[in-house]
This record gives sequence, structure tokens and C-alpha cells, in this order.
Amino acid sequence: MKSNKIAIFAILLWVVTVAVFITFFIRGNTVSGTDNRTAIVLKAGERELVLNEMRGLLATTQGIVEGLNQNDMKRVAQAAQASGMASAADVNPALMAKLPLSFKSLGMSVHHDMDDIAKAAAEGKPTAELQKQLGNTLAKCVACHSAWQIKAE
Ligand code: HEC
Repeated sequence: MKSNKIAIFAILLWVVTVAVFITFFIRGNTVSGTDNRTAIVLKAGERELVLNEMRGLLATTQGIVEGLNQNDMKRVAQAAQASGMASAADVNPALMAKLPLSFKSLGMSVHHDMDDIAKAAAEGKPTAELQKQLGNTLAKCVACHSAWQIKAE
């Protein structure tokens, strides 16, 4: 009887641990933000890393727009590639764990889009098509920025 209780307790403890882990995995390290957004709490260095990646995305956007304007598809492809999936591959697991699941999937889909834009440019797709792709991607930038902010610990 006693060992039965211990077994039930152990299982409960396991369930709670898994539940906490899953909750953290989905929610990341977040608190209510100051401006109706949700704040992701990161170490100062981690925040700088994410913001640095963001400035890379802005530079990529500028490169794509400029390349399209000059009808320079090589420039478009290079600019887009710089923010492709490969650029996100080396983010450390401790930081990844703090980012909410929906944030990560939105972020990854933007990197994916950039690879698609690079591919479309390399294939010589028409400017209007590339502009449409970029517009769809920018909608994701806007959606994410309206939902999240990043706070340093
Ligand atoms: C998955 C979410 C997400 C996506 C997608 C995203 N951003 Fe951000 N970005 C953020 C967050 C969060 C911040 C910090 C905002 C804050 O703390 O107020 C930020 C900040 C920035 C900054 C400010 C950087 C600095 O040094 O302060 C720029 C520029 C930026 N993003 C550009 C972009 C561009 C361009 C795109 C799309 C091509 C993009 N971002 C896509 C979440 C995202």
C-alpha cells in the first residue's frame, strides 16, 4: 500500500514536471509588457543578439528593395540570403528556450521567406512577384512587433 502511494506520488511529480516544462516551452520566459504587448525577458547580451539579428533583417529588407529598384537580382538574392535559415542556425539553446513557441515559429518563417526570396531572385522571377513575397514577409515583421517586446533582466 505504502509503495503504491509512493509510486502515485512519483507519477504525479513526473506529470507536474512535464506540464511545467511544456508550459515554459510554449510561453517562453515572458511577463506582461508595459504597452499592451508581452515582454520576453532575456539577459542583456541575449537581447543584444536578437536586436542585432533584427537590424540584419532591416538591412536585408533595404537590400532587397534597392536591388529590385535597380533590377539587380544578384543583389536581391545576396541581401535575402544574409537573413535566411542559415543565419539563424547558430542561436544557442538557452536563448531558444526563453523565446515563446509562437515567436520562434514566426521568426523561423521569416528566415524561411528570405531563402524563398533569394531563390526566386536567382531564378529571375519578375519584380512584382518578389515585391509581393517581400510584402507578405513584412506583414510578419509587423505582426510580431505588435505582439512582443524584449526586456533585459
Ligand atoms: C518573431 C518576432 C519578430 C519578427 C518576425 C521580426 N521582429 Fe523585429 N523585433 C522583434 C522584437 C520583439 C523587437 C524588440 C521590440 C521592443 O523591445 O520594443 C524587434 C526589434 C526590431 C528592430 C529594432 C532593433 C534595435 O536595434 O533596436 C528592428 C530594426 C527590427 N526589429 C526589424 C525587423 C524586420 C525588418 C523584420 C522583418 C523582416 C522583423 N524585425 C521581424 C521581433 C520580431
